[in-house]
Amino acid sequence: MSQAKVNLYYKNVTAEVIGKEHGITQQQFSQLAQAAASAVDKVNRAREEGKTPYRDLPYNTDYPKSVKAVASEIEGRFENFVVLGIGGSALGNIAVQTALNPYMYNLDPAQRKGPRLFVFDNVDPMQLGSFLDWIEPQLDKTIFNVISKSGRTAETAAQFQIIRAILLEKLGSDALKKHVVATTDANQGTLRTIADQAGLRTLVVPDGVGGRFSVLSPVGLLSAAICGVDINQLLAGAAAMDERVKSTDVMKNPAAINAAINWHYYNRGKPISVMMPYSYALKDLSDWYRQLWAESLGKTNAVDGAKVFVGPTPVKALGTTDQHSQVQLYREGPNDKLFTFLQVKEFERDVTIGPAPETAPELGYLAGTTMSKLLNSEKIATEYALLHDKRPCMTVLFDKIDAFTIGQFIYLFEVTTSITGRLFNINTYDQPAVELGKEATFALMGREGYEELAGKIAPVAKIDPEFLV
Ligand code: PA5
Repeated sequence: MSQAKVNLYYKNVTAEVIGKEHGITQQQFSQLAQAAASAVDKVNRAREEGKTPYRDLPYNTDYPKSVKAVASEIEGRFENFVVLGIGGSALGNIAVQTALNPYMYNLDPAQRKGPRLFVFDNVDPMQLGSFLDWIEPQLDKTIFNVISKSGRTAETAAQFQIIRAILLEKLGSDALKKHVVATTDANQGTLRTIADQAGLRTLVVPDGVGGRFSVLSPVGLLSAAICGVDINQLLAGAAAMDERVKSTDVMKNPAAINAAINWHYYNRGKPISVMMPYSYALKDLSDWYRQLWAESLGKTNAVDGAKVFVGPTPVKALGTTDQHSQVQLYREGPNDKLFTFLQVKEFERDVTIGPAPETAPELGYLAGTTMSKLLNSEKIATEYALLHDKRPCMTVLFDKIDAFTIGQFIYLFEVTTSITGRLFNINTYDQPAVELGKEATFALMGREGYEELAGKIAPVAKIDPEFLV
């Protein structure tokens, strides 16, 4: 069992490092600790009252068991595993895969422990069309995991209907049973009805667990397990982090500190929260975080009904790539951002840099050193440059990247989100603003019952030539 840890390093937000105008003083930290202690207490109480079942996923034994049962049934029989889902039904799958499997996983059979993995979280005809051209001749070696809690999400429903028609046409009436696994609500919803009637294999999206908090449930665990990720370690990492993030001794609780610092800076004119991994493997975790943060914390109403219009804006960047794209803005633009770097102490493998050409002796400083040293040096260099301009920075330090640390990270940010939501006094777990767009899509696509809304949308749908240049 891995002992590797994930820690939060926050010295570089202190007034000691970046001065009083932008840094947090001891006195401010004491006030924040009090607010955070109360928020942790409320979050812990909500858990005890059964209001946040995602908190107990690391300990659930039924879900991993059902996932492993499906995984072993299909193991070795398919070369392609295709996830159809969107938002919380896709981002966690992508993040875990990028984090824990090699970059060339899909292309190099020698680097692959299971089938190739594809996740479709869009309805782009060019993208899916190209994929269908490639996959159709090998449909018999392909299995689809359609994931939707509600089953009414237009994107996932459309993808499923396309695949269903192709499977039935090419492989016959039994194809769905063999080639589709549905992950959905245990008892209700459109996909549950379809799955039950067609006799599909199913896995459960747990009751009360919203999409963006569901990666440690069968939603995220099946694609992980199929592709060789040790899901026991993933869950063990989350459980290990739980011990730390439930602590009411907030100065020892990384989620409480993380939440308090984010909340503090939002209220102090820094509403933008940049997550910048210095590791390609971690890059999709910032996509996953972006949804978690934005859908959970962007709210009009406080729980007491007051209009608050809050929500820090999550931004993803990648080191070192975005040093050559964003850092000019980050250093010299408005000081309205909090930076969270993700840094890996020890990479599983390294690559040594070759000698400098004789014609370029000025590149000799790189010769014989390693890419990991360069990557981590660039992280420190960027942080130093940002601190020089009084920009607050935190770092999530990974001892290494493995299933145990990825589980820790996921749980750390889920609980950070819950605590931050408490500090903002909002409902972290709903997403009412996403609904209108979903309903407008129904109206535009001619769904029955949405005629009145279609009429209201008509002026937006029409291009007014007077304004077209
Ligand atoms: O986090 C959420 O709740 C959303 O992002 C959903 O996951 C997303 O809208 C997909 O919903 P469903 O799983 O019902 O298709």
